[in-house]
Amino acid sequence: MSHWVNVPLADYEGHMSASGVEQLAPLADLFRQALVQTNPESVAILGIAGGNGLEHINPATTTRTVGIDINAEYLEVVAQRHPSLQALELHHHDLAEKPIEIPPVDLVHAALVFEHAGTGQCLENAIKLLSPTAHLSVVLQLPSDQQTGVAPTPYPSIQSLKETFQHIDPAWLVATLTPRGLHLKHETRHPLPSGKAFWHGIFKQ
Ligand SMILES: C[S@@+](CC[C@H](N)C(=O)[O-])C[C@H]1O[C@@H](n2cnc3c(N)ncnc32)[C@H](O)[C@@H]1O
Repeated sequence: MSHWVNVPLADYEGHMSASGVEQLAPLADLFRQALVQTNPESVAILGIAGGNGLEHINPATTTRTVGIDINAEYLEVVAQRHPSLQALELHHHDLAEKPIEIPPVDLVHAALVFEHAGTGQCLENAIKLLSPTAHLSVVLQLPSDQQTGVAPTPYPSIQSLKETFQHIDPAWLVATLTPRGLHLKHETRHPLPSGKAFWHGIFKQ
């Protein structure tokens, strides 16, 4: 079982907001950018955690929002935080282990998920969720000379994630998705205060 089920949301969000990490706000902004660029009627967020960035969903445009996570506690908090988000579907699911059986969406957003859930079944699930004209938005953490994949902060539960964290090479992802009919339409690199950086790619079928 994934270490994520033993990470309280307060620890995760505390870690991600801590000085030297500071990733929550940039991640919310990358989700906003994916929404702006693709204008989806429906969106699925793989590894939704506490719903970071959901405030950027325009309910006039996006009428179905799907959140998926392995940690049921996170999903309860997302529901409490966003009572007015229409058609919010939350699925407790291990994306690395089982195919997900839900109707497809116009945008799949996978931010810092493949590093933890791998690129086997989880990547297959991302592809399976795409409607015929959908976009796939992927945020990857680039390796840094200055910091390890999971930065040291005072949250012991988070440190357990180091055991399974794996960097995913954006070039590998592009080379894997292109033969599957998913073409990179947009890519950006976002330096972070910690010296790390995110890569953001938006693929289109
Ligand atoms: C680094 S956080 C994602 C950050 C979030 N996407 C954002 O933009 O702020 C990773 C999330 O993926 C979830 N996760 C990890 N492995 C998973 C799996 N196998 N299946 C489903 N969710 C998983 C974790 O519980 C956690 O909520």
